[in-house]
Amino acid sequence: MSVDDLADLYNDPIGTATLAAGEIAAITGLPKHDIAIVMGSGWIDACTALGIPSHEFDAHVIAGFVPPSVVGHSGKIRSYQLEGDTGPLNLLVFLGRTHLYEGKGLEPVVHPVRTAVKAGCSVVILTNASGGINSAFQVGQPVLIRDHISLTATSPLIGADFVDLTDLYNKRIREIVKHEDPSLQEGVYVHWRGPAYETPAEIQMMRTIGADLVGMSTVPEAIAAHALGAKVLGISLVTNAAAGITGEKLNHKEVIEAGKASAGRMGELLKAVIPKLL
Ligand code: HPA
Repeated sequence: MSVDDLADLYNDPIGTATLAAGEIAAITGLPKHDIAIVMGSGWIDACTALGIPSHEFDAHVIAGFVPPSVVGHSGKIRSYQLEGDTGPLNLLVFLGRTHLYEGKGLEPVVHPVRTAVKAGCSVVILTNASGGINSAFQVGQPVLIRDHISLTATSPLIGADFVDLTDLYNKRIREIVKHEDPSLQEGVYVHWRGPAYETPAEIQMMRTIGADLVGMSTVPEAIAAHALGAKVLGISLVTNAAAGITGEKLNHKEVIEAGKASAGRMGELLKAVIPKLL
C-alpha cells in the first residue's frame, strides 16, 4: 500500500473500496463474492473447518489496506468456494483487522467491510474476542451480538448520513444461527477504544448501562457495512472475564489462547451456518 493509496482512502473511501473490490476480483478471477467474514483475535484457526481456500494473498497489496500490527491478526485475505443451500457461494475471509486503538483513524478500520460490500457481499460476519461482563457467560463461549453500545464517541459515517440502526445485527440471521446451535446466547457488546483494558469501575458502569460483553472492535465495521446495505452478523468469543470480575489481571496472550482453544467449535459453527445465510 502506497502513501497515495492511503490519501485516496481518506479522500474517497467508497471509491477506494470499489477499486479494492476490483483488485480482489482480478486476483481471484471471481467478479463477485457473496459473504464476507472478518476473523478477529484468536479466530484465525477457525478457518480450518472451511476447507482449502482457492486464493490467499496479503491484504496490503490491495488499495487502501494497511499491514496488521497486532499479534493474532495475520493481514491475509482468502477466497473460498463453498456450497450454499441455494447454490455455490464465494466467501471472502479477512484474517485479522485494523483497530481504532492503532491510531490510524477509522477509515482503515472499516475499509475491509466496505471493500467486501463493493465486491458483492450481501452478508458480513464480524467475529471478535471479548471480555464477559454478564456473569452468566463463560470463557470459551460464543455469544451472538444482539445490539451494541458505542463508547468511543466516533462513527465511520461522515455528514448527514442518518442511518437507522434498529436492526443492525440482523434478527433473521440471528434466528438462523440459533436454529443451528440452540445453545447460543445473545448479548449487548460495548465498543471500548483501548488499547488499555477497562478499569473495574468502567466495567461496573458498562454493566449498569446494559452491556454483556466488552471489546475493541466490530462496532464501526457493523455500522459501515449496514450503511452500505449489507446484513450483519456479529459473533463474540468470550476470552476472559472482564476486569474486576474475578480479580485476575487481563492479558492479550490469554485472549489469543482462549480463541485457539475454541477454534474447533467456532469453525464448525461457521461452516454450518454460512450455507444458510444467502
Ligand atoms: N476488554 C476489552 N477487549 C477485550 C477483552 C476485554 O476484557 N477481552 C478481549 N478483548
